[in-house]
Amino acid sequence: MKILVATDKPFAKAATDGIRKITEEAGYELALLEKYTDVNDLYAAVADADAMIVRSDKVTQAVVDAAKQLKIVVRAGAGYDNLDLAACTARGIVAMNTPGQNSNAVAELALGMMVFMARNNFQPGTGSELKGKKLGIHAYGNVGKLVAHIAKGFGMEIYAFDPFVPADVMANEGVKAVASVEELYSTCNYISLHIPATPETKKSINYDLLSKMPKGGCLVNTARKEVIDEEGLAKLLEERTDLKYVTDIMPDSHAVLAEKFGARYFSTPKKMGAETAEANINAGLAAANQIVSFLKTGDKKFQVNK
Ligand code: 3PG
Repeated sequence: MKILVATDKPFAKAATDGIRKITEEAGYELALLEKYTDVNDLYAAVADADAMIVRSDKVTQAVVDAAKQLKIVVRAGAGYDNLDLAACTARGIVAMNTPGQNSNAVAELALGMMVFMARNNFQPGTGSELKGKKLGIHAYGNVGKLVAHIAKGFGMEIYAFDPFVPADVMANEGVKAVASVEELYSTCNYISLHIPATPETKKSINYDLLSKMPKGGCLVNTARKEVIDEEGLAKLLEERTDLKYVTDIMPDSHAVLAEKFGARYFSTPKKMGAETAEANINAGLAAANQIVSFLKTGDKKFQVNK
């Protein structure tokens, strides 16, 4: 049996070494396709693979069609919007993610981005502190919880909106639950986004919602670019010269935003939230273990296309 690791953005060597060890000890063969620039290379590499590990790599209908022997695909990470679940399901391919494994790396980056924006993009001049500011966590999942935990150390006041998490669970963790997304945005100086990209959330962070933010508000996006209504955001940044946007997922309108809004806007050049050796090892090894467990025993824990 062959396990393919297909990563446009490769894992750290320690992670691929660990994946190889797990794979080979289980009696399987490992193949690596890293930094590929031509999708045809992916079609060729997946043709005889029984299992595949990807990151944000798109597993489209065409990839599924090329993957004649594929039984399982694991997205080493949290968001699985890059997997065509319908195509996988139609072919009986089990799709999984590795929830929580890279969350700390993303949470640390979110706080780092807040400091960066509060301190004038590390340029000379008077900045402000996070201490005493209100932080709104939009979706209290694995990353959101860790952001709350770290932000407490900065002395921030933490609020969160998540219809799937009871208020008393948040209260036990020192987080104030708000009743609506509008309340979160109108209350908080910083908003940290942790929602997935789904048909319901796409473009949901729009002009009306963002215009509720108090003076000097800053939106921090380490989630997905698709959740932002970029036109609405640009319109608001134009009207409200106090607002800031920092993102780890480069917007389609990056060049325009960078030119128009200077230091009030920043995007990393390539998504780097989960780019730590620790996150690569945690997510990569979890993916390999999940594949071995599935192939050996049929274990489908973490399946996302049930
Ligand atoms: C995730 O959903 O796990 C993160 O966005 C990380 O994505 P990456 O593996 O492409 O860095």
